Amino acid sequence: MSGIDLAVIGGTGVYSLARLEDVETHVADTRFGAPSGPVRVGRLGRHRVAFLARHGEGHSVPPHLVNYRANLAALQDLGAERVLAVNTVGGITGHFGPRVLACPDQLIDYTWGRVSTICEGGHWAASGGEVLHVDFGQPYSPGLRRSVVAAALRAGVDLVDGGCYGATQGPRLETRAEIARLHRDGCDIVGMTGMPEAGLARELGLDYACLAVVANWAAGAGPDPDEVITLQDVLDNVAAASAGLADLIGAVLEG
Ligand code: HPA
Repeated sequence: MSGIDLAVIGGTGVYSLARLEDVETHVADTRFGAPSGPVRVGRLGRHRVAFLARHGEGHSVPPHLVNYRANLAALQDLGAERVLAVNTVGGITGHFGPRVLACPDQLIDYTWGRVSTICEGGHWAASGGEVLHVDFGQPYSPGLRRSVVAAALRAGVDLVDGGCYGATQGPRLETRAEIARLHRDGCDIVGMTGMPEAGLARELGLDYACLAVVANWAAGAGPDPDEVITLQDVLDNVAAASAGLADLIGAVLEG
């Protein structure tokens, strides 16, 4: 099979890739088990692109139960070396209001109880049991981040360059006190799927960057502190940001 120029993992509200042509479907079974759903491989212009919906195409897999290892391995097994992860998030600080697209450069992991390393389980013992202590000072690949930021400029898509992603456990949303704590810690955005995915990608040797789509103000962070976050608001805002998303992915491929 010929290589994949870019793999895209879609988050909440992003269950397919607009403009993907000549699509083949791969139902993978990896050494880490089954991914969230089929991988769709097709052409965007001249480029081969793989797409996988992180929560399944019918959004049936909650954030804490996603098999992050299998998802990444399925893409890598098809030949992907670069992964652009689309993550739906809440905004905490001023530049990160609803419908903003951002490419964060840092993260803090508040998740717990998730399988967060490939150094665990039978396949690891079978492959010799080498312990990995990967460098994670810059959790997102600087080269892929640069490509995304440059692509946004070329395509005329507004994108915030940088920011710190706080990864929470979910599936419930956060309390206002939790968001105030994340703010004090230096987080700009909050989501439930940023980790362990980024760490596993590094262990697997993949180039990985996050394209965050802000769906709502996080609890208590917006102009109306009493606002109640609804799934409909989240989906409406992600849908509104999606045109920019498709343009941006197209431009990353052309870069
Ligand atoms: N918190 C955590 N995850 C999210 C949010 C949020 O406010 N919005 C979308 N995903």
